[in-house]
Amino acid sequence: MDPELGSDIVDLGMAKGVQVDADGQVLITVALTTVGCPLRAQIKRDVVALVADLPGVSGVRLEWTEMNPDEKAAVMARARWNVRDQEQGAEIPATTRVITISSGKGGVGKSSVTVNLAAAFAKRGLTAGVLDADIWGFSVPRMLGLDGRLAGELTSEGEKKIVPVIHTIGSGMLKVVSMGLLVDDEESALMWRGLMLNRAVQHFLEDVRWGDMDYLLIDMPPGTGDVQMGLARMLPRAEMIVVTTPALAAQKVAVRAVNMARKSYLRVIGVVENMSSLTCDHGTRYPLFGTGGGQELARTAGVPLLAQIPMEASVATGGDSGEPVATGQGPASDAFRALAGKLIEEAVSPVQMAGCSARMLELAEAALDAGDAEAPSSTGAR
Ligand SMILES: Nc1ncnc2c1ncn2[C@@H]1O[C@H](COP(=O)(O)OP(=O)(O)OP(=O)(O)O)[C@@H](O)[C@H]1O
Ligand SMILES: [Mg+2]
Repeated sequence: MDPELGSDIVDLGMAKGVQVDADGQVLITVALTTVGCPLRAQIKRDVVALVADLPGVSGVRLEWTEMNPDEKAAVMARARWNVRDQEQGAEIPATTRVITISSGKGGVGKSSVTVNLAAAFAKRGLTAGVLDADIWGFSVPRMLGLDGRLAGELTSEGEKKIVPVIHTIGSGMLKVVSMGLLVDDEESALMWRGLMLNRAVQHFLEDVRWGDMDYLLIDMPPGTGDVQMGLARMLPRAEMIVVTTPALAAQKVAVRAVNMARKSYLRVIGVVENMSSLTCDHGTRYPLFGTGGGQELARTAGVPLLAQIPMEASVATGGDSGEPVATGQGPASDAFRALAGKLIEEAVSPVQMAGCSARMLELAEAALDAGDAEAPSSTGAR
């Protein structure tokens, strides 16, 4: 599956040829929209892993070529079609980059990373949506010090929409949606359990008037369950950041989150190692939870280690008082600022993306928004 377009590479015309020799050595030719596509490594891993598992295969090699303009146009048309098929109803603007913050296990700092990254974006003057997908374990409202309530409004077409709670930080803005802004306590939230876990997330995607946003960060519940699968279906363009602690054992659990993402074709941007080490007042560093987990996870998953957030009392107190540490000073704040900067400038740099399928998807969505949808055709529709 092309991680960005959500279609299989045969359907997209990217699988150009397969040769199998008598010893079971397989050579597969894959055409990319551009040879510098940042998704190349993931496509290679997926193809090799799947083909290597087939009976009789002794080895797999991949060869890359680049599509010609007509082929690119056909992929573009296909992408438009898929976008329309798959994201029906989602109210997230095409230009918004959607990032889920996930982990294999609980308590590693997903919510802390979500609110602090959002705050770091806002400090740069950006608008970030924060969707608390931890329906019954919500913590985002407390961490941001919000006590507002989600309001409803009727659109001019008579549709009911939910209005996010707006929270300004510096010259930027957060748009927050959480079950905690609907119910009064976690007990009431528990009553929703099971009944509508996925439906709640779907509501939050489809029935919220999100409006313009540079980023939408989704704080995932712990584990690799239904919500993640549902989200992959509802928002196939979402990308994932995996949070882990430096403990090597934690890293093994986090691998599950990566595997889950790959199975549901979500692109994994990279790893954030949280609670990396504690520096005492005298300047000595204590790696309380060990070292190497983030690096090891990044290596196993073949993605970058994006940040190492130190263990700092201000992360916890900031979460409790509703003033994220990223709005203040110190090493943890610096680490969140650097993470935001990296995501903006490096993780998917505009230069790398130019002409690659990921960028095409944005163009396709923009075209759809402009009411310019057309069916794909085998002759290379534009
Ligand atoms: N870098 C850090 N330094 C100090 N404390 C931290 C740090 N990161 C998180 N914490 C604290 O650890 C606890 C767990 O963090 P958080 O709630 O963000 O994790 P989570 O992965 O979202 O948990 P859950 O799985 O329950 O949703 C919180 O009390 C938080 O304040
Ligand atoms: Mg959480």
